Amino acid sequence: MTAMVGRHRRVLVWDIPTRVFHWLLVTATVSAFVTGYVLPQWWLGAHRWAGYTILVLLAFRFVWAAFGSEYSRLGSFTYSPKETFGHLRGVLMLSPRHYIGHNPAGAAMIFALAAVLCGLVVTGLLTEGGEEKIGPLAGIASYAVGDTAKTIHLILVWTICLMVAGHLGGVVIESWLTRENLVAAMITGYKVVPASTHLPRHRRPHWGAALASCAALIGGGALILVLLGRMPPRGVPPGPVNATYLRTCGICHAPYHPSLLPAASWQAVLSQLDNHFGMDNSKLPAAALVEIAGYLATHSAEAWDTEAGVRFRIASESEPRRITSMPAWRSIHAAVPAFWFARASVGSKSRCVACHRDAASGRFGDSKISVPMGERDQEPRGESRPTPKYPGLRP
Ligand code: HEC
Ligand code: HEC
Repeated sequence: MTAMVGRHRRVLVWDIPTRVFHWLLVTATVSAFVTGYVLPQWWLGAHRWAGYTILVLLAFRFVWAAFGSEYSRLGSFTYSPKETFGHLRGVLMLSPRHYIGHNPAGAAMIFALAAVLCGLVVTGLLTEGGEEKIGPLAGIASYAVGDTAKTIHLILVWTICLMVAGHLGGVVIESWLTRENLVAAMITGYKVVPASTHLPRHRRPHWGAALASCAALIGGGALILVLLGRMPPRGVPPGPVNATYLRTCGICHAPYHPSLLPAASWQAVLSQLDNHFGMDNSKLPAAALVEIAGYLATHSAEAWDTEAGVRFRIASESEPRRITSMPAWRSIHAAVPAFWFARASVGSKSRCVACHRDAASGRFGDSKISVPMGERDQEPRGESRPTPKYPGLRP
């Protein structure tokens, strides 16, 4: 583990698993930031996998802190608050004490980074479970919990950005003060220390125990998530959309999912069928209409805990029958340029299915938005074009 170089010796500080872990975690965290924050909504699938990768890496590091080689072990980098403040004072006086493994400030940063990354994974799972009703926590998290988790997730994103900046700053400052290249050490694994340095007894890794613990922890965790994922999504009434409703109200337009209007609005739609947005629907079969009225009354927005169900409960005052007049619908689509709705491939605001591939299920998932390509002749000339933010969109 050590080799003499003149009056110095090279010590293998970071074993291969610790180094691979470190750089994979960097890659996964940067990917998660880019796919979740920089790229548009439809990258959320990749974002999800970056999150799972971080979870697996953290589980590995947890195990390696127990069974890894000397400087990867938890015991080699747990310091008392007194030692940590002593070290920070040393940094301020520009003469910090030299540590072979993690120094106290670095160790504190590692614990904080691990805690924040765990928080990001948990709030991420709660957000997709509560807001999108997908993933392992869909059966547990309500929309409100998902919404709160999303806010915390965003706060943690900025927290971790600041911490990464602090971590990089710490590496630069310590490398400069101790004249040792910490980045190179995390790549080669070696540090050069004076021959006189007292080295702790070098504990070797326990590969068998580490592999078995990793398999148990990651396998057990995956099993729990898979089992949780089999729970029916919370606040999503079971069963397909009523067949009579689909048949009767799907003659002229794709039938609107029952979660898109509150019960009172559905009632208003059904009581004014002779003047249905310029159409006379009063000849629709009476028996079917009775069944539809019962179905819509029990499956209206109030019955759903999905994004659409929760947000589309307050009807427009002037036209309570229209989804597209609702304050929430308008504010959600405020950034969507009017000419997109006018495209021949879309038709009108009311043709949800043209842009939402999952409109029939009432999900309106972020990753299922795909605005049809534009016909150039329909687009106003000279108007500034929006940046392509959605899949399938090439203005
Ligand atoms: C004869 C054709 C026809 C039938 C049948 C029909 N609709 Fe419609 N519906 C329309 C038209 C036309 C519009 C207006 C679409 C537009 O403005 O682009 C409309 C609009 C709507 C809207 C408002 C959409 C918006 O812009 O927010 C709702 C809600 C609706 N229909 C519900 C129903 C229900 C419920 C039934 C079954 C009882 C039904 N429709 C049956 C033709 C029909
Ligand atoms: C021209 C395409 C288009 C049409 C038509 C359209 N939408 Fe959208 N919708 C979008 C886009 C784009 C977004 C994303 C807006 C954003 O995040 O800025 C969106 C967002 C949404 C969301 C929020 C989804 C999320 O995860 O953030 C809901 C719910 C929704 N639309 C419902 C509807 C309903 C209901 C209809 C039909 C009455 C409809 N939309 C018609 C393009 C469309």
